[in-house]
Amino acid sequence: MSGTDLSVVIGGVRFRNPVIAASGTFGYGREYGELVDVSDLGGICTKGLTLEPRSGNAGVRLHETPAGLMNSIGLENPGLPEFLEKELPRLRELGPAVIANLSGSSLESYIEGARLLNDSGVDMIELNISCPNVKAGGMAFGLDAAAAVSVVKPVRYVCSCKPLMVKLSPNAPDIVGVGRACAEAGADALSLVNTFKAMAIDIHKRKPVFDNLYAGLSGPAIRPIAVRMVWELRDEVDIPIVGLGGIGCPEDALEFLLAGAAAVQVGSATFAHPRSMSEIIAGIAEYMRKKGLTRLAELGLERRGPSG
Ligand SMILES: Cc1cc2nc3c(=O)[nH]c(=O)nc-3n(C[C@H](O)[C@H](O)[C@H](O)COP(=O)(O)O)c2cc1C
Repeated sequence: MSGTDLSVVIGGVRFRNPVIAASGTFGYGREYGELVDVSDLGGICTKGLTLEPRSGNAGVRLHETPAGLMNSIGLENPGLPEFLEKELPRLRELGPAVIANLSGSSLESYIEGARLLNDSGVDMIELNISCPNVKAGGMAFGLDAAAAVSVVKPVRYVCSCKPLMVKLSPNAPDIVGVGRACAEAGADALSLVNTFKAMAIDIHKRKPVFDNLYAGLSGPAIRPIAVRMVWELRDEVDIPIVGLGGIGCPEDALEFLLAGAAAVQVGSATFAHPRSMSEIIAGIAEYMRKKGLTRLAELGLERRGPSG
């Protein structure tokens, strides 16, 4: 990788390369320590954190589909105070930039959570206004511009010391409008996409697979839609976009980077192939070397019209 600089700065945070573990799929980093050289990664997003501990949803939580994975975890987490005391010191030692994924069940809980994180050792906050697996809060805030601004603005206000990335929902009828509103409300970056609201029926039991009825769809099935959404937002906001959705190999990541993402996150692929992210980092470096590019910022695509 010598001679190829993969580093990228987002919201003032330097990532040694543009590959970040996606929230909810890499625990708090240490869980993968025996399988992966975690220090290779550009960054790690924590599992969605809430003010109070949550035990998550009952019943089936994961269900595979052709080319996809459905989940209904329900934000199981130890709560922010325990994360900050027990997990964060270990996570910090691993090396990659640390992004805390913040969720809430009410506006007040988002603000209080953001206040705790603002005084902590995390590098960045990823505001999750797009979780389809909780009944209150979560995705409801990410579905339209006004609702998104109602949480981004106060969280921005209390997060005076930390860069704020807002994670968008692909379930919003107008994701471009929501992204633009978040940028205007003070977000330093956008990440997209979270999972698509989906459903599966168990034909043998003749009932829905998930107790919660709906679940979030991730994996290769959603990638082309996520790439399209990154593309649509690239000229609409002047803050960096972090792209994700179905990335499993270097070519997938390059698609997002060429579509306009400054960095990528990898989620479901890690479950099947824990070393995916290391291979993606090496593959991006190899691609750049072959194309004669020395810095990530040189990766770009000639803009053509929709029919081009
Ligand atoms: C099991 C599982 C748990 C997840 N938990 C969270 C979460 O807590 N917070 C969040 O913002 N996204 C969560 N996600 C969404 C992922 O971070 C990511 O946005 C989505 O899976 C699309 O990427 P992928 O296709 O690479 O998995 C979760 C996804 C999965 C599969």
